[in-house]
Amino acid sequence: MDQYAVFGNPIKHSKSPFIHTLFANQTQQQMSYGIVEAPVDGFTEAVQAFFNSNAKGCNITAPFKEEAFQFAQSLTDRARLAGAVNTLKKTDDGLIIGDNTDGAGLVLDLKNNHVNLTDARILLLGAGGAARGVCSSLLAETPAKLTIANRTFEKAETLASIFKELGNISASGFNDLSGPFDLIINSTSAGLHGSLPNISTSLITPETAIYDMTYNAEVTAFNAWAKENGARLTIDGLGMLVGQAAESFAIWRGVKPGAKQVLTELRHNLA
Ligand code: ATR
Repeated sequence: MDQYAVFGNPIKHSKSPFIHTLFANQTQQQMSYGIVEAPVDGFTEAVQAFFNSNAKGCNITAPFKEEAFQFAQSLTDRARLAGAVNTLKKTDDGLIIGDNTDGAGLVLDLKNNHVNLTDARILLLGAGGAARGVCSSLLAETPAKLTIANRTFEKAETLASIFKELGNISASGFNDLSGPFDLIINSTSAGLHGSLPNISTSLITPETAIYDMTYNAEVTAFNAWAKENGARLTIDGLGMLVGQAAESFAIWRGVKPGAKQVLTELRHNLA
């Protein structure tokens, strides 16, 4: 049976095996999908051993996405721009290709939630790895503008310069932002530290949709804050998790699974 896995550390609580097993059932693919907790200093050895054992592909999550980028023998354009790889695939010729499906997963989930991206004014909060992973996919939807705002302005500037050939992208500090925005995406890790990105509530209007790339069993702190301040719609990142998985699955198996039913089951299990 074709073998797949997700690599990370820690990885025990990963939802990827659950998601990919449902996808495989749904599309009647014969495959197994496990987890590999590589030592923090031993990713390359672990992934090499995995592919030596004839495995077909894997997902990579924190803290190994940059190392997976180095490990890949060939990269897709979007992975090269992201500087990180979340999907490795071994071709029939034995070549290991690195891709990044995070941005496609986000766009898929936004579309499933009927959020329009074409000609939209988009604000992306944060300029770390999570933000960099989604910029090319957002720009491919031809928004009117994509503003990257970060607590540390210089990092936002760096991201804007990496992606400037792909569309109307600019950098800002949190204090210099002026709206309105149709969509605000939170990619910061502020919520993990129990805080919120320090932006003005005036950026949220009754037309603003909010996407928080994190998720938990409750409403995320950022989405609760946005809702209190009048956002029209708040979405958390669970659908992006399913979306990026669906894109990886399609790369490996050549068939695109449906995300909706899997997302419903996953949400049910979170509660
Ligand atoms: P990830 O891979 O999850 O993006 P990262 O590369 O460490 O993680 O980036 C974390 C992002 O969250 C950064 O944009 C960081 O802002 P700085 O570049 O100024 O550090 C942002 N972030 C973390 N805590 C934050 C907070 N309390 N308020 C605002 N932004 C925060």
